[in-house]
Amino acid sequence: MQTHEIRERFTNHFVKAGHVAVPSASLILDDPNLLFVNAGMVPFKPYFLGQQNPPFESGTATSIQKCVRTLDIEEVGITTRHNTFFQMAGNFSFGQYFKEGAIKHAWALLTNSVDEGGYGFDPEKLWVTVYLDDDEAAEIWEKEIGLPADRIQRLGMADNYWSMGVPGPCGPCSEIYYDRGPAYGKEGGPIADDSRYLEIWNLVFMQNERGEGIGKDNFEILGPLPKKNIDTGMGVERVACLLQGVDNVYETDLLRPVIDAAQKLSGSEYGKDKDSDIRFRVIADHSRTAMMLILDGVTPGNEGRGYILRRLLRRIIRSARLLGAQSKTMDVFMNTIMDTMTPSYPEIADNRERILRVAITEENAFLKTLESGTQLFEEAAAKVKASGASTLVGKDAFALHDTYGFPIDLTLEMAAEAGLSVDTEGFDTLMAQQRARAKADSRAKKHGHTDLSIYREWVDNNPTEFVGYDNLEAESTIVGLILDGEKVNEVHAGQQVEVILDASPLYAESGGQIGDRGEILVGDTVLKINDVQKIGKKLWVHRATVETGGLGLGDTVTAQVDKAWRHAARQAHSGTHLIHAALREVLGPTAVQAGSMNKPGYLRFDFNYTEALTPDQLKQIEEVTNQAVDADWAVNTIETSLDEAKAMGALALFGENYGDLVRVVEIGGPFSMELCGGTHVAHSSQIGPVAVLGESSVGSGVRRIEAYSGLDSFRYLSKERAVMSGIATALKAPSEEVPDRIAALSQKLKEAEKKIEDLRQAQLMAQSGDLIHAAHDINGVRVVSVRLPDGTSAGDLRTLALDVKNKLGENAGVVVLASAEGAKVPFVVAATKAAVAKGIKSGDLVKAMGEYVDGRGGGKPDMAQGSGSRAEGLDAAFGAVATVVSQI
Ligand code: SER
Repeated sequence: MQTHEIRERFTNHFVKAGHVAVPSASLILDDPNLLFVNAGMVPFKPYFLGQQNPPFESGTATSIQKCVRTLDIEEVGITTRHNTFFQMAGNFSFGQYFKEGAIKHAWALLTNSVDEGGYGFDPEKLWVTVYLDDDEAAEIWEKEIGLPADRIQRLGMADNYWSMGVPGPCGPCSEIYYDRGPAYGKEGGPIADDSRYLEIWNLVFMQNERGEGIGKDNFEILGPLPKKNIDTGMGVERVACLLQGVDNVYETDLLRPVIDAAQKLSGSEYGKDKDSDIRFRVIADHSRTAMMLILDGVTPGNEGRGYILRRLLRRIIRSARLLGAQSKTMDVFMNTIMDTMTPSYPEIADNRERILRVAITEENAFLKTLESGTQLFEEAAAKVKASGASTLVGKDAFALHDTYGFPIDLTLEMAAEAGLSVDTEGFDTLMAQQRARAKADSRAKKHGHTDLSIYREWVDNNPTEFVGYDNLEAESTIVGLILDGEKVNEVHAGQQVEVILDASPLYAESGGQIGDRGEILVGDTVLKINDVQKIGKKLWVHRATVETGGLGLGDTVTAQVDKAWRHAARQAHSGTHLIHAALREVLGPTAVQAGSMNKPGYLRFDFNYTEALTPDQLKQIEEVTNQAVDADWAVNTIETSLDEAKAMGALALFGENYGDLVRVVEIGGPFSMELCGGTHVAHSSQIGPVAVLGESSVGSGVRRIEAYSGLDSFRYLSKERAVMSGIATALKAPSEEVPDRIAALSQKLKEAEKKIEDLRQAQLMAQSGDLIHAAHDINGVRVVSVRLPDGTSAGDLRTLALDVKNKLGENAGVVVLASAEGAKVPFVVAATKAAVAKGIKSGDLVKAMGEYVDGRGGGKPDMAQGSGSRAEGLDAAFGAVATVVSQI
């Protein structure tokens, strides 16, 4: 049974039973604890916790959620069941049916015959586990379903009590396993062997709320949820693996074609060698995950989600190379996986070109990296060997990783090929240090301290009401105070604090717009707000300095937005929308947004595009933008459903969730329509002039436009004008003639420099006549050895030496020239043909000289050069040459 059909049967089964089919949410949801959606229940969390009512009348839903888990990335391809991307099919009951309903629904779908719409699993092969003391579930399995008691096993918290790993809903669970037979492991049920007994479905009886704690079994249970709920998750790829009778999840209908493509490209065969097979599976698994991440808007980068995508893409390329692929492979892998996935995800069709572009750009960049990194590696390896050691130090491995993005496994492999080992411990230490630094940096920047769990209580119970679209001032109550990462009851003058209010008029950084500045006031107390950050979607954290006075929890205060700040912030954000629209008008719709940032007076906009923009394109973008300003269009905001917004043609970045109310900001009708929560001007003319500063590259395939907005545009243009008039005055030319004048001047300068260089060369050559006269005879060889004036470069020494050598003609002759240039001591040896015939080797002479000047060098018999660091040794070095020549 094809995967697409497995999905359809699942949805049909539960829709027939009254569930609402909810489309998968984006892989990227706004949750401070999650990099990617990693379970089907994630989008439904607020309904389980009772924070929101589910928008489904039946109180039940079903979904097939895209999930990504990369913690086990090293396991991919080694076990038979680890996918970094997988589809979790689930049914959810919010206070409706509970254990019995969940068990019966699952059992029916698994064991009903294919004709009845089920999967037709043999009931004799199914086993289940329940939580230790969950007699109720065990009894349902035994009495209602008729499962023999010896196929119902009990496991503890780590296995059969499910939570998200962080505070949130949780509960005991019951897992369903399929016995794949003795070829896959030992007998004895899931508790004996979880490879032979493959888990296919987890039924979670979501009834409690989890508190702080660590891991799967070391946390506090805070108490019951408002209602008893059901959350189940069936692994679509595992079911596919079983129903298609294949050995592992990499060989199903969705991934196998990628393995086949990799066989063709690499010439290696799948199923012949264990290590190669792992590489084939890595390619298949990662190709799909990378494609789905790009589909949801992730672009390769150096941190967070972008870094995971980059790592996946690089592992694909590297694996393909190790299998023997000589040419580029990304095009084929991406096209293959898009073909297999499109039936279930039709939106891929509209994004094919973009997905390909992102993946191929990264491939090109990585191949370049490989090239330059390989060079650096070879130098480091040569150094190690020259010193007689056999271990590449951690610092070098780290530099390869840090500067060239070389994965450590690549360094390890190349080292092995070169007969070296790598100090991985030293490497790990440096990596750990770097990670700790990066983590501390990024979190400290945003939140002042690193642990986000401190905010959980307010996120769940006391979210902030944002009242700042219409008001710049609001009365509100202090509901939280944080000092140095600790909750406190009061704060005092001089302290840097974080303040949580029940309602705030200040905009919190999001959607590219940075947080408002403003003040919190009560009586004589003044807090200056330096930044406002959002935790999740609903909690505003105001970072502030207590300037005078103090305040405490429960105090009623006035929160005020700095009016001038907001005015300019609105201009910048609306200006960003205009730039985005203008960009699409000039470059076409493939220029997809990759990110943006705006703050009073300044904006930047990043977009996917592989080429640099021409000056003409930039000019057009600026022109279209300012025409839109001039049109004085009304700026409208509309609150609507996500589907409605998409139907209107609104451009959405990623991460919106089914059922969310979204805000559409529209400027000039179809000209600009975007999903956006930011603050905007009322009419486009209020944006003021937008002055484009330029465009640049920010990573592979992503370009950036920067611009000033409002008064800052004016100031920028005015400053440019002043600079221009300064240049015109200096050149004594009208400004329109300045470019030609400068071109003419630089041409003249070039010519003058050339003349000077010619003269210098002539002067240099004039010396060579004198040098010939300095020749003396040793052992029938004419030897010229001279120390030239300090500052003579290695290049000049070479030119001169060659010239003198030519002048020596048919004679046996050796020219040895040296100088001191700063701390360096360059030296050159040239030997005529006749001298070489006598057995003189310039390379050996250079080596002999090196000993006296603390230097090294090398070359061919007729010409060699070196560099040392001890000029005092030069006389002795000349002497050494004489000695060698005399002994020929
Ligand atoms: N939330 C559970 C899981 O992820 C069941 O959907 O396994």
